[in-house]
Formats: sequence, C-alpha cells, structure tokens
Amino acid sequence: MSLTIKKGKVRQKIPAHLRLARSGVHGYGLFARDFIPQESRIIEYVGERVTKAEALRREDQRLARLAAGGDGCVYVFIVNKRQDIDGRVPWNLARRINHSCAPNCEAQNIAGRIWIMALRDIAPGEELNYNYGFAYAEARDHPCRCGAKQCVGYIVEAPQRWRVKRALAAENK
Ligand SMILES: C[S@@+](CC[C@H](N)C(=O)[O-])C[C@H]1O[C@@H](n2cnc3c(N)ncnc32)[C@H](O)[C@@H]1O
Ligand SMILES: [Zn+2]
Repeated sequence: MSLTIKKGKVRQKIPAHLRLARSGVHGYGLFARDFIPQESRIIEYVGERVTKAEALRREDQRLARLAAGGDGCVYVFIVNKRQDIDGRVPWNLARRINHSCAPNCEAQNIAGRIWIMALRDIAPGEELNYNYGFAYAEARDHPCRCGAKQCVGYIVEAPQRWRVKRALAAENK
C-alpha cells in the first residue's frame, strides 16, 4: 500500500478505481469509481498481525470504547487459528468496507493474505461489501442495516441465519 505523508500525518492513497464516501449503511464505505469485473482482486485487507490473545485484548478495548459511547467498529479480521489482522490502522483502506448479507465481494485468504475479491461485476458507484461471517454466538451484538432481502437484522454467517430467525421468532411469541 503506498502512503502519502502530508503535514506530518500518514494518509492513505486511494486507488483510482475506488472512492471513499459516507455510506447509507454505516459511517464511511468504499465505493467503485469504475466498473470492476467479477473475480477481480480489488484491495488487500492489511494491518497489524496479532496473536489470538492480543486480538482478545483489543476486543476488550473495543467493548470499552463502545460502552463509553465511542467507536464500536470491529476491524479485527481472523486469518487462521493462530493469527488475526487488526485492520484499525490508517493505511488500511479496506477497513472501510461494510458488511452485506447479499454481498458483491468476498474476502479470500490467499497464502495468508486477505484479499477482497469481486463476486460479480460491480457497476461504477456501487458500494463494495462482503459478508463478515460472524459466528452465531456473537451475531446479536452486531445489528445489520444492509437492507438485503435475506438479511435477518444481524451480521451472521449465512448458514446460521435460520438460527437467528428462530431465536427472534421465539422471543416475539
Ligand atoms: C470494518 S468497519 C466498516 C467501515 C465503517 N463503516 C467505517 O466507517 O469505518 C466495521 C463496522 O462497521 C459497521 N458496519 C459494517 N457493516 C454494517 C452493516 N451492514 N450494518 C450495520 N453496521 C455495519 C459495524 O459497526 C462494524 O463493526
Ligand atoms: Zn444484513
């Protein structure tokens, strides 16, 4: 990732085919500026490589920030059984990609590096998104505002949507 240093601050250089803008889903989002063909490798999810123990410590910090009324965004990406990437760094533009239950991208682990790939052709102006795939146990802590018809209202891996639906139905009886 190339960086521009300006007035002492580290800034991300935005690739020509992408645009950073406010999202209707949440905060900032990353958008296609140009047509992106299916299966393109769009951008790498980069950051600090941390152990699972360190990732847990940072999750506690995130919860503390959230409890204090601050930013509760999740930026830790699971790489494998030993390692995660904390993408909460200014040079990780991919951290701005929101979740969707009907995504146009997916995150692929290619030789230990995380790449955001186009699942289909993406038109100029479309917001990029992928399924964060959160586990059922944590889904209820992450309400989803993607607006897709298959959305169950929470960010959860697709095979577990039925369990969330069942739990919600039981609570509403
Ligand atoms: C990696 S950040 C995504 C970028 C974020 N919008 C920003 O401005 O930095 C992940 C966080 O964005 C929010 N988010 C992403 N997708 C969402 C969705 N579909 N519905 C609600 N919140 C979402 C959640 O707070 C999540 O923890
Ligand atoms: Zn959703």
